[in-house]
Amino acid sequence: MEQIDYINTVKDKIKNKNQKYYILTFGCQLNENDSEKIAGMLEEMGYTKTDNISDSDLIIFNTCCVRENAEERLFGKIGEVKRLKEEKNTIIAIGGCMMQEKSMLEKIQKSYKYVDIVFGTHTIQTLPEDLYKVLIKRQKAKEILYIDGEIIEGLPIKRNDKYRASVTIMYGCNNFCTYCIVPYVRGRERSRHPNDILDEIKSLAQNGYKEITLLGQNVNSYGNDKFKYCKSKEAVEIDTFAKLLREICKIEGIEKVKFMSPHPKDFTDDVIEAIKDNPKISRMIHMPLQSGNSKVLKEMNRKYTKEDFLNLIDKMKTEIPDIHLSTDIIVGFPGETDIEFEDTLDVVRKVEFEQIFMFIYSPREGTVAASRDDQIPDDIKHKRFNRLKEIYDKQVEIQNEKYIGTIQNVLIEGPSKNDPNKLTGRTDSNKVIVFTPNGTEKIGEYVNLKITENHRWFLIGEIL
Ligand code: 5AD
Ligand code: SF4
Repeated sequence: MEQIDYINTVKDKIKNKNQKYYILTFGCQLNENDSEKIAGMLEEMGYTKTDNISDSDLIIFNTCCVRENAEERLFGKIGEVKRLKEEKNTIIAIGGCMMQEKSMLEKIQKSYKYVDIVFGTHTIQTLPEDLYKVLIKRQKAKEILYIDGEIIEGLPIKRNDKYRASVTIMYGCNNFCTYCIVPYVRGRERSRHPNDILDEIKSLAQNGYKEITLLGQNVNSYGNDKFKYCKSKEAVEIDTFAKLLREICKIEGIEKVKFMSPHPKDFTDDVIEAIKDNPKISRMIHMPLQSGNSKVLKEMNRKYTKEDFLNLIDKMKTEIPDIHLSTDIIVGFPGETDIEFEDTLDVVRKVEFEQIFMFIYSPREGTVAASRDDQIPDDIKHKRFNRLKEIYDKQVEIQNEKYIGTIQNVLIEGPSKNDPNKLTGRTDSNKVIVFTPNGTEKIGEYVNLKITENHRWFLIGEIL
């Protein structure tokens, strides 16, 4: 509420000046969702979006610090915009996970003095005030906060898509996997009140949204914090992830529900039952493996063994026969031997994931794994990465062939990038299908397609 005055003052200040913002988001879907909220606030203040950085009056970088390469890219970008600052005094704002890291914040303040605003993951709601300070008071703004604050509800939001929407159900992470910086920059697990989540999804459904992706660092520990960070003190009945899934599936107009990411250690039977009972829940489940070796998993603090993971997958495949799986894998964790890495390949062969997000281990300052003195040399990390990729590529080829002749129900997303006369959509398992329209189908509606060809990175379909 206190930001409304700032919103109105900034709105007045930039009125009739055709002010434009450019926003660049690094990292995960949670950051994308934060950027949608940032865009929502900016549009409320009268800014309009541009995709041309040189044409903008306000540049926002929403940063990620999960791996080193995101940081390198950011510093490249900040260097590039110095010219714009000098030529036309463009306002430069940097927010997101990296700004929650003390060393990064200091680096920005020391070496990139032309940056006007820095804000953290927990202070995006103060952006109107930050802009007010820069535009009216001519001050720099720095709003980095302790990281376990009360959940802020009701921020305006400008969504990137008209049919698919992400809804953050919880913030933060309590797991402290030893390689991961997230718990340090995003704070403790904080679940949103189910009423706020359900209201948001109902309103999305009323506005024509069909697919919802529920977001959180560890969605299946939803409710474990007993909702103590919620502003609303209304009694909570929907206090587990399984119950939340069931309630969301009841919302009319929502055709598909996805979620990202669960943790294998918390994938309880009630969640499996909820998926089984609700065909609206996507059959593509993301199940981050990280490593297939029990010793490495222990050192990663993942709290499951190779056998636990394989048993869980077996159970899921038995209970939900049409399931597809995707995963995250890190290669080259400190101390990982060739033999231990073989276990990762073994799990990959056994599970046959449809999609693997592969990462080379990247030491993150302040984490337990980064301080180990048995870091793996880069050439070995790359060799392992390439071996994993080779196996994965072969599996993708075999899996794609299995789609030929099947019928897929897909949401029509829009014209194909390579051929505007064709349309595209995705299978439930996230494979792109390109097809020739027959004139009656509409973007944002579902269509049944028979798969006729496999082109490795996409499939060809025919309207039925
Ligand atoms: N190095 C490499 N990959 C990492 N991830 C998280 N931290 C690191 C790191 N330090 C990967 C994990 C996680 C995904 C989002 O990013 O696989 O699931
Ligand atoms: Fe990082 Fe582990 Fe939390 Fe995922 S569960 S955000 S990998 S600490």
